[in-house]
Amino acid sequence: MPLRVRIILVIGLVLLLAMTLGTLVAGYEVRRALSAELTAGMGGARQTVAGAFEDLPQSDHPARDLRELVETFDGNRHVHAALLGAEGQTVAVSHTQQGDAPPPGWFRALLKIPPSSMALPLPQTRFGAGQLVLTPTPDLDVGATWNEFLALMGVLVVTAMAGLLMVYMVITAAFRPLTVLAQRFAGLGGGDYAGRVAETGAPEVLHLQRGFNLMAGALEATSARNRQLAEQLANLQEEERADIARDLHDEIGPHLFAVSLDAEVIAQFAASGRHDAIPERVQEIQSAVRYMQKQVRDLLVRLRPTQVTEFGLNAAIEDLVRFWATRQPDLLFDLALPDEAISGPTAEVAYRIVQEGVNNAVRHGKPGLIRIALARGKDELLVTVEDDGSSQSVAGGSGLGLIGMRERVEAGGGSLTYGPGAAGQGWSVQARLAWPHEEGQS
Ligand SMILES: Nc1ncnc2c1ncn2[C@@H]1O[C@H](COP(=O)(O)OP(=O)(O)OP(=O)(O)O)[C@@H](O)[C@H]1O
Ligand SMILES: [Mg+2]
Repeated sequence: MPLRVRIILVIGLVLLLAMTLGTLVAGYEVRRALSAELTAGMGGARQTVAGAFEDLPQSDHPARDLRELVETFDGNRHVHAALLGAEGQTVAVSHTQQGDAPPPGWFRALLKIPPSSMALPLPQTRFGAGQLVLTPTPDLDVGATWNEFLALMGVLVVTAMAGLLMVYMVITAAFRPLTVLAQRFAGLGGGDYAGRVAETGAPEVLHLQRGFNLMAGALEATSARNRQLAEQLANLQEEERADIARDLHDEIGPHLFAVSLDAEVIAQFAASGRHDAIPERVQEIQSAVRYMQKQVRDLLVRLRPTQVTEFGLNAAIEDLVRFWATRQPDLLFDLALPDEAISGPTAEVAYRIVQEGVNNAVRHGKPGLIRIALARGKDELLVTVEDDGSSQSVAGGSGLGLIGMRERVEAGGGSLTYGPGAAGQGWSVQARLAWPHEEGQS
């Protein structure tokens, strides 16, 4: 059963209970008042009759006086009088006032008015024996009470219905934002991060709405960043492949061609007996092969950065430094590596930090010295990459390098700081990574 229906049912039950209790209390009071009124009416009637009976023996026309006595009760609201003869036959009765519509029997029974009649024997007169019977007549009052009861019930029912309707409207309005939130959450589950909710609910709901919007915003930003990173990765891979193709074409191609030419010339020298010229050509071939070997090694370093896991972190960083040192002969490296062999995810993250740190330094800072230090701290590995280049921001990069770095570090529970170096000189990146307990130590 929906929550709002339950709330309305409970409120309805409470109202019904209150109405029932109120009616019972009012009914009890009405019954008391009615009884008192009837008792007073009967007392008055009895006194009237007693007074008349005192004068009756002296009367010349007792029958007429008795009839007149009965007539005095005509129209009495509370007492009905009947004159009975010696045989119990009715001689005269008073005419009781009639209400519009008699109250229903159950209502009368509920008020429990006792119909206690009173029979007063006639005094000795010429009229003879007989009695005057007085009977309480509560019908008029009960009828009036019934009408009041109906009016009261009408007011109560209409008020209760109006109250319930208002509660229903307020609850429905209060629940509407929750329904919208539920729909948006379902959308979020389906990957729709753009949906937001209007922040217009009651204070309690407003917190939920704000929280939802913040969460959806964060998810949207993360998803956009992931997309961007994926695109960046794809672009990088494309660039890398084009770069490698160029290197193979420009560096290896001409040397292979030169080697084949030299081999042909050697064959010709051998055929024509010019053996003295052959060693020089052989040296040429050997030098070209050495050059190509170096090129192929460098390419392998670029193609296989995951050698971290294969040859260890220190070897991978040393290879990286060699790679850059050959390309930037004027750039100096200061390398401090730990004695312990580090592998696993920590090593992978540390390598990526050094790789991007050095990349950035070369690209943005144009430094003369890059310091790379990996040191063991208390239960952590401290990775530092510092340079003495410029720390001025340069436009042009996609700005994903440092973001990716932070994500890698934080995913492993570590922390990262970067920015211009001390006294605004150069640039510094520092990461604290959890020391690899299981797989890291040898
Ligand atoms: N060693 C550094 N020297 C000077 N500025 C740096 C250095 N490292 C980072 N920066 C500044 O920080 C910015 C962000 O670096 P980040 O690596 O995130 O992006 P990027 O290098 O510009 O692009 P990419 O996504 O290709 O790495 C750089 O654009 C640069 O302005
Ligand atoms: Mg970068």
